Amino acid sequence: MDNLTVIVLAAGGGTRMKSKTMKVLHPVGGRSMIGHVLAAVSAMEPQRIVAVVGTQREQVGPHIRALVPDVLLAVQEKQEGTAHAVRVAMEVAGPTHGTVIVAAGDTPLLEGESLRAFAAEHEAAQRAVSILTGLVADPFGYGRIVRTSEGDVEAIVEEKDASDEQRLIREINSGILAFDVEFLLEALPQIGNDNAKGEFYLTDAVQIAREAGLTVGAHTISDVMQTQGANDRVQLAELGRELNRRIVTRWMRDGVTVMDPATTWIDADVVLGQDATILPGTQLLGATVVGEDAVVGPDTTLKDCEIGAGARVVRTHAELAVIGDGATVGPFSFLRPGTNLGIGGKIGGFVETKNAIIGDGAKVPHLSYVGDAEIGEGTNIGAGTIFANYDGVEKHRTTVGRHARTGSNNTFVAPVSIGDGAGTAGGTVVRRDVPPGALAVSSGPQRNIEAWAQSKRPGTAQAEAASRSGRPADEQQVDPGVGAGASGETES
Ligand code: UD1
Ligand code: CA
Repeated sequence: MDNLTVIVLAAGGGTRMKSKTMKVLHPVGGRSMIGHVLAAVSAMEPQRIVAVVGTQREQVGPHIRALVPDVLLAVQEKQEGTAHAVRVAMEVAGPTHGTVIVAAGDTPLLEGESLRAFAAEHEAAQRAVSILTGLVADPFGYGRIVRTSEGDVEAIVEEKDASDEQRLIREINSGILAFDVEFLLEALPQIGNDNAKGEFYLTDAVQIAREAGLTVGAHTISDVMQTQGANDRVQLAELGRELNRRIVTRWMRDGVTVMDPATTWIDADVVLGQDATILPGTQLLGATVVGEDAVVGPDTTLKDCEIGAGARVVRTHAELAVIGDGATVGPFSFLRPGTNLGIGGKIGGFVETKNAIIGDGAKVPHLSYVGDAEIGEGTNIGAGTIFANYDGVEKHRTTVGRHARTGSNNTFVAPVSIGDGAGTAGGTVVRRDVPPGALAVSSGPQRNIEAWAQSKRPGTAQAEAASRSGRPADEQQVDPGVGAGASGETES
């Protein structure tokens, strides 16, 4: 909108959070609280956004700038009230015309469309001040909207300054106000701090406008939760649940199946394709994208992941992973950053991956760790394979070519490479490169030490079972050179 300045107030401390982190920086729905407010404000495309920072501004300022690079930051050293904060903001804003909207930084459910409608009504009515009000069941703590017998807005009275009668008023100031710039600049110096809190109240501008014979109006928002702030962690969780309910509902209306909305958590920036199915106990976080017809869950957490169309991800924890179309993951898989599974590939049960590029149709089906690796298309990695990427000092890469078939219980000691179409036998420890088409075998030929149990474990159930096996004892030669412990068992 042309000639529109938006001021976002975020200088107050938010002590009720009892946190090292400033209130407006607390995350909900995958963004900070102020991140949601800035998204709503930016949707109006104002000429400028001024954010007022104070308490812990070294945390808050850079966070705001990262989200809105052309934001103007105004520093309010001491929090002397909302009117004082706006005064500081107007000094930074420079010469302005038109409309100023003031909002707080802690209302995560606020939507751009509501702000736009409010600003449009304010401008159409050519008012000096407009108040976005709400009707609430419990108005405690809010500024009350005092109206004349004709229904015109007369004043906003703060909780601490209100009479008993005024405290019964359930119409409250949401904290979002719109001003005509010329009026605001005239009113600000007239606002004093002679009140219960000893603060400069922005809300006093209403009375100033009335006394000057200017128009004041209110716009009552029906969806009052949009203007609700979170002052403590209980309220934050309540707003978080409501935000999630709204996001999940929107996706269902857009063609996504969500089996259990109550246990499904979807962050604000997640994108879901048509006919995707989300099963219970699933969290889709950050910038996760799920393709059409994909099925995710149950009990899955995906943060900043890209899931291809028609892929299936079951009971998985993944971060910064890319899963190709039609690929399958899980159950019980742990995908760490840099995992990239190709089209139709598979990462199976109890598999951990990190920095691993796994080609189209390639499979790591069971019980493996794949770190710092590249696996070519169509290759199958045997059960229980460890990509040993760390020599205790540095990480190294392993490459496995296309259509290779590696045996179970292998260890690939990086840096090492296994060629296209190569294979490895069960139990192989690959320390040297395997050429294309070769079969690597590293364990020695098997040796059986006859009648070892009867000789070294006499009188045990093991020895008795061996004796009962029906094999004549004289066929079992005892090897005197092998002592107890050679079985390789671990004693517990
Ligand atoms: C304010 C309103 C009240 C309204 C309520 C809605 C005033 C005087 N009162 O009350 O009518 O119902 O919001 O939530 O405006 N801030 C600063 N600098 C300051 C003081 C506040 O940046 O010096 C910021 C706070 O960080 C917060 C916002 O302004 O984001 C509101 O301030 P707060 O002290 O919470 O005002 P309330 O008493 O809630
Ligand atoms: Ca407040």
